Amino acid sequence: MATCLGQQLGCLLLHWFLLQTVMVSSICSQGCPQRCECSAKYKSVSCQGKRLSALPDGISLDTKVLDLSDNRLRWVEHGDLLPYLRLEELDLSGNTISVLEPNAFASLQNLRTLSLRRNQLKLVPMGTFSRLTNLTSLDLSGNKIVILLDFTFQDLRSLRKLEVGDNDLVYISNKAFLGLVALRELTIERCNLTSISSQSLSYLRSLVTLRLRYLSISALEDQNFRKLGGLRGLEIDHWPLLEYISTHSLQGLNLSWLSITHTNLTSVPTSALRNLAYLTSLNLSYNPISVLESWALRDLVRLKELHMVNTNLVTIQPYALGGLRQISLLNLSTNGLVTLEEGAFQSVNALETLRLDRNPLACDCRLLWILQRRKTLNFDGAAPVCSSPVEVQGRALNAFSDSALFDHFTCQKPKIRNRRLQQITAREGQVVSFLCHAEGEPKPIIFWISPQRRRITTKSGGRLTVLPDGTLEVRYAQVTDSGTYICIASNAGGNDTYFATLTVSGLPLDAALMANRTYYAGDLNDTNHNDTRVSLKFTLDLKTILISTAMGCIMFLGVVLFCFILLFVWSRGRGQHKNNFSVEYSFRKVDGPAASGGQGGARKFNMKMI
Ligand SMILES: *[C@@H]1O[C@H](CO)[C@@H](O)[C@H](O)[C@H]1NC(C)=O
Ligand SMILES: *[C@@H]1O[C@H](CO)[C@@H](O)[C@H](O)[C@H]1NC(C)=O
Ligand SMILES: *[C@@H]1O[C@H](CO)[C@@H](O)[C@H](O)[C@H]1NC(C)=O
Ligand SMILES: *[C@@H]1O[C@H](CO)[C@@H](O)[C@H](O)[C@H]1NC(C)=O
Ligand SMILES: *[C@@H]1O[C@H](CO)[C@@H](O)[C@H](O)[C@H]1NC(C)=O
Ligand SMILES: *[C@@H]1O[C@H](CO)[C@@H](O)[C@H](O)[C@H]1NC(C)=O
Ligand SMILES: *[C@@H]1O[C@H](CO)[C@@H](O)[C@H](O)[C@H]1NC(C)=O
Ligand SMILES: *[C@@H]1O[C@H](CO)[C@@H](O)[C@H](O)[C@H]1NC(C)=O
Ligand SMILES: *[C@@H]1O[C@H](CO)[C@@H](O)[C@H](O)[C@H]1NC(C)=O
Ligand SMILES: *[C@@H]1O[C@H](CO)[C@@H](O)[C@H](O)[C@H]1NC(C)=O
Repeated sequence: MATCLGQQLGCLLLHWFLLQTVMVSSICSQGCPQRCECSAKYKSVSCQGKRLSALPDGISLDTKVLDLSDNRLRWVEHGDLLPYLRLEELDLSGNTISVLEPNAFASLQNLRTLSLRRNQLKLVPMGTFSRLTNLTSLDLSGNKIVILLDFTFQDLRSLRKLEVGDNDLVYISNKAFLGLVALRELTIERCNLTSISSQSLSYLRSLVTLRLRYLSISALEDQNFRKLGGLRGLEIDHWPLLEYISTHSLQGLNLSWLSITHTNLTSVPTSALRNLAYLTSLNLSYNPISVLESWALRDLVRLKELHMVNTNLVTIQPYALGGLRQISLLNLSTNGLVTLEEGAFQSVNALETLRLDRNPLACDCRLLWILQRRKTLNFDGAAPVCSSPVEVQGRALNAFSDSALFDHFTCQKPKIRNRRLQQITAREGQVVSFLCHAEGEPKPIIFWISPQRRRITTKSGGRLTVLPDGTLEVRYAQVTDSGTYICIASNAGGNDTYFATLTVSGLPLDAALMANRTYYAGDLNDTNHNDTRVSLKFTLDLKTILISTAMGCIMFLGVVLFCFILLFVWSRGRGQHKNNFSVEYSFRKVDGPAASGGQGGARKFNMKMI
């Protein structure tokens, strides 16, 4: 006991001595503070969870690793750590530190790792981290910091990893990150930030990974990450207010992985992903995206992994994965998918791992391609399971034998019922419907082809549309709608077609012309356009037309004659006896179909003067 006391006394004296001369010595390397564990080999001192309220005495001066986590330290003052010049790792997490003095760590120029996690810091004063030029990792998460001030980290030019999450951060000042030229990883989470300005991020030129989690940000500004050309991974997780990612918000990035999860996005942000040609992994899990649209990811030519777990996905359209030639892992676990057709892929050759479990799969011919590959595909320990038809309900796809293969997994080609010939003659303006009901397994999709070879589906707007039961409806029929319509019912088993013809008879010509005029007058109520009414209202007789034409001609000739007389008088008056002169004028058909001025438009009048 006495020797130990003596040793400690010696140490204290030595402290004092060192404070004066700033000289390093290792005479006292055997010392270990009471209640702490020390390792001479690693030069480490661990005082974790010892209820210490101040720095313990007896810490050896050449300590490299000091663990003071889960104690009751309340502040770090300038002098406290001054003697431990050799310190490389310092863990102060889980204390109640609320005050950091400027230059608190300034003497620890060999410090590599500093953790101040789970303390009571409200503010990090300027200069707190001054001179820590060798620091590579700093953890400030789990405090109560409200604002990050300008220049807070300006000396930390070796810092590679910074955690500022789980604070009450409401604002990050524009120059807060200035000086962090080596920062490679940044995590900001569980804050009250409503935006992250592109200017504050613009100082982080070396950033490789950026994680932004649990934030109440509702939109990303255009070019939010524009200066982060070196960024390889971006995580946007738990942003419940995010509903839309604009076209330019990811501009300037060259990511290899992107994760946008637990947001309120309802569709794949196709246009925002356009420039990410080097993306190899995309995680869109836990977003309410119910439809994966055709070519939604078309520009991600190097994509290898796509995760869309638990996104309420019910439809994967044909060519939804079009353009993804290298896709090798597809995780669609826990969705509402009834099927996954081979036609969704550009090519399934590269596919190695497929998770399709926890989907209400219909085991018909559409899943045959998976069944055929069931021995080579990796289901990641969770093979897809049939939900229907009832005969195979609950069976896993990899449990079928080869012989059972073609008893199940079949489709029934569509068959159009009631093939009565439909030939309809209608008047202009009427509503016309053609029936087309089809049966098949799976339920066929019905669309129509117009005489102009236009595809009409249930989504077509305008006068021609297809009702949910397959009926084609032509509203306000026009003469140009006449012709043969083809109904096509198609499913994975094949297709069936059926023809119908429509003849629309027009109105008498002049009445139709006038009818047109009434349309323009704003009297447009198509259901009211009865032929009789229209023709009664506007009948013009031939006499009127002839008289008005003749009047027009006489007027015209009169004007021309008058002009000639004027010219004649004028030339006489000037005494210039020219024998020839020509008059040019343009003649345009006023109401011609296409007032084509060139042909027969300009005419030349030549006149000889005597
Ligand atoms: C940083 O660490 C290196 C050794 O890795 C050392 O040579 C250098 O002096 C340290 N820098 C400072 C400012 O202490
Ligand atoms: C941050 O948000 C949480 C919960 O929304 C709230 O309890 C807290 O007071 C907010 N902090 C600040 C500084 O606004
Ligand atoms: C997400 O979007 C839905 C519908 O657009 C809306 O009802 C809901 O409130 C949104 N959720 C949040 C957290 O904003
Ligand atoms: C994008 O990153 C890839 C590596 O992931 C690199 O090969 C490529 O040159 C980068 N492109 C640009 C424009 O920086
Ligand atoms: C995708 O994101 C979800 C939700 O954040 C996460 O649980 C999952 O591990 C991620 N998947 C991969 C492969 O990173
Ligand atoms: C697919 O997603 C599930 C659920 O998130 C996860 O447990 C599994 O590890 C993922 N599999 C692969 C191969 O990513
Ligand atoms: C209908 O099926 C035939 C062969 O069965 C196929 O050639 C044709 O492309 C299909 N048409 C449509 C519109 O699906
Ligand atoms: C009615 O007006 C439309 C639009 O200007 C035109 O296309 C159509 O040919 C006109 N109909 C008749 C019968 O003149
Ligand atoms: C068309 O006329 C009918 C009956 O006169 C009327 O009920 C309807 O509202 C009118 N529609 C339009 C678009 O004016
Ligand atoms: C239009 O014709 C229908 C029958 O097609 C008739 O019931 C209606 O009374 C007519 N309306 C007018 C304004 O003439």
